[in-house]
Amino acid sequence: MTFTHPKVPSVASRSPQPKRVLVLGATGTIGQATVRALVRRGHEVVCFVRPRAGVGGRLDPSESTRLLAGATVRFGAVHDAASLRNDGFRGEHFDALVSCLASRTGAPRDAWAIDHEANVQAFEAARGTGVSHIVLLSAICVQKPLLAFQQAKLACEQALTESGLAYSIVRPTAFFKSLSGQVERVKQGKPYLVFGNGTLTACKPISDDDLADYLAGCLEDESRRNRVLPIGGPGDAITPRQQGEHLFALLGRPPRFRQVPVALLDGIIGVLGAAGLVVPSLAAKAELARIGRYYATESMLVLDPVTGRYDPDATPSTGNQTLFDFYASLIGGGAAPERGDHAVF
Ligand SMILES: NC(=O)c1ccc[n+]([C@@H]2O[C@H](COP(=O)([O-])OP(=O)(O)OC[C@H]3O[C@@H](n4cnc5c(N)ncnc54)[C@H](OP(=O)(O)O)[C@@H]3O)[C@@H](O)[C@H]2O)c1
Repeated sequence: MTFTHPKVPSVASRSPQPKRVLVLGATGTIGQATVRALVRRGHEVVCFVRPRAGVGGRLDPSESTRLLAGATVRFGAVHDAASLRNDGFRGEHFDALVSCLASRTGAPRDAWAIDHEANVQAFEAARGTGVSHIVLLSAICVQKPLLAFQQAKLACEQALTESGLAYSIVRPTAFFKSLSGQVERVKQGKPYLVFGNGTLTACKPISDDDLADYLAGCLEDESRRNRVLPIGGPGDAITPRQQGEHLFALLGRPPRFRQVPVALLDGIIGVLGAAGLVVPSLAAKAELARIGRYYATESMLVLDPVTGRYDPDATPSTGNQTLFDFYASLIGGGAAPERGDHAVF
């Protein structure tokens, strides 16, 4: 599903040096937006996607091709080195690789297979094709890697920095889709759910198009080369409580919150973790609960290594699309984003 934002992305000018770019993870939320941004800038874009793509494998090849208009779409298995080489790169010349590839579940095995192994394999495969620059979509949360998927991503980042190829590792803050799961329930008159009092964490939300434009800009901006780049959206950092307050204000209703104790998640993690020793499927659910707890208690802002505190002022901003504009469009009847498997609330 494509969300058309009322404000256009901040930078959409054509690249002075169009490049031939292979994109992985093109059917994901940020991948789709990144393909649009690269095409807008005049790059020649080739996407390598699975034959059944999208949330729940809903997209067949013709739908993926339609979704990624302006790009050439090729099909195969990204985790299979031979398919990547023969069906993806096809022995052709590319200037750059952009990877927005990520496990859809965040479950440990999937994260190591996709966020780490498939990406590292692609870096190797790219080496022989002329690729001189790799842009990797990562996540700001890898700066405090407590979860398996964060460790997988961090190991991937390290492999890229040690590859000898030029790189731009982009670590965004929270996406709009991850912060809009409660719009519908609040519209229906239900209270807004927060962990603690709703001020345990903060983030600088970034829109799909603003992030995509930043990723595409890495191909042209020398200052983004060989750098790890934390990036948030425009404006001040906001807490979950402020998100809820704004939603109620947009609906013209008095704010109503329900506070969920973090200890509840600890209890769930404990029970599922113990049961998971016997039933593997419950171990996977325990990991999802750990992911939920992480986002309930850790801010998506740059972490000051000296003080151990999250620092909104040290978190760079880009773009012009705000979460509150996005909420307004959703309340006005705009299409809700696909949230996939990552949803907590
Ligand atoms: N949500 C947030 O707030 C947030 C914040 C900061 C950073 N991030 C990070 O941003 C990254 C991308 O997020 P997103 O929302 O764009 O992800 P997404 O929508 O889940 O897209 C993931 C992409 O990876 C592909 N993929 C996954 N497993 C695959 C497999 N086995 N074989 C081939 N392709 C596979 C998917 O292809 P299919 O369509 O075929 O499944 C899709 O194109 C993630 O690493 C996430 O950790 C997220």
